Amino acid sequence: MNPQIKQRIESVINNIEQLPSIPEVATRIINMVNDPEVSFKAIADEISKDQMITTNILKLCNSAYFSKGKEISSVDRAIVTLGLKEVKDAVILAATKIVLNKIIMGYDLAKGELWRHGLYVAVLAKKIALMKGKKDIADVAFTGGLIHDVGKTILALFVQGTFKEIMRTVEEKKIPFIAAEKDIMGFDHQEIGERILSKWKFPEVLKASVRHHHQPMSAPDEFRTVVSIVHVANSLCLMAGVGIGSDGLYHELVPEAIELTKLEPGELEMLFAGIPEMGEQAETLI
Ligand SMILES: [Fe+2]
Ligand SMILES: [Fe+2]
Repeated sequence: MNPQIKQRIESVINNIEQLPSIPEVATRIINMVNDPEVSFKAIADEISKDQMITTNILKLCNSAYFSKGKEISSVDRAIVTLGLKEVKDAVILAATKIVLNKIIMGYDLAKGELWRHGLYVAVLAKKIALMKGKKDIADVAFTGGLIHDVGKTILALFVQGTFKEIMRTVEEKKIPFIAAEKDIMGFDHQEIGERILSKWKFPEVLKASVRHHHQPMSAPDEFRTVVSIVHVANSLCLMAGVGIGSDGLYHELVPEAIELTKLEPGELEMLFAGIPEMGEQAETLI
């Protein structure tokens, strides 16, 4: 453990100003969509107040990934055609892009790679949820997948200086990269990610998806299935080489997560083989 680094990280994460921000409309929309008392109209009005988000979500709603074939030119139309949950996912996409679409130095991720990785994991996680008949959590699997590695945006600043030490720990102790992060820096990118989501006032299920995506079995019971889906999607994308940085393949695929998601070996193979084709759709969100 490097106490100086730990202290520096602590001072960054305890200073909320230093954590990345997103447009507040994203938080408001997540809460409004979860509130059955709130009308479609109120949600459309809230989104429309933010011009940049509106422009971006209309673009997203017309992408090959979301589009249902009909041209969508207003937020009202988007909600009617795609449904509230899809539009909410588009709002979160538009809101988090600035945070995730940058160079992540310490992990050796070029500009756009963390964003691309998040998108692929999001699309795959949603696909798994739908494949296993869990339509009710498909939207959360998508957003959880999208932002699962957000903590890397902060921790990257510190990984750079300690990278050799982290790798030595990985090799000597035969532990995954995430455990070595914690060992050397006192924090891992999951914990930092959870802090960032607290700042954004995101719901507990998304915080759990970020906090436990490498150890899904330590997530609270009620969120374990969705966290496991994000975990499996992340692992498959890493195996396929999407978003591999300096941490490379030093990750574990937790067998209990596969059990919980009830994915058969044949289904896992099919999902893995389908990643390039799925990627073509994901790329339309970039
Ligand atoms: Fe991660
Ligand atoms: Fe990841």
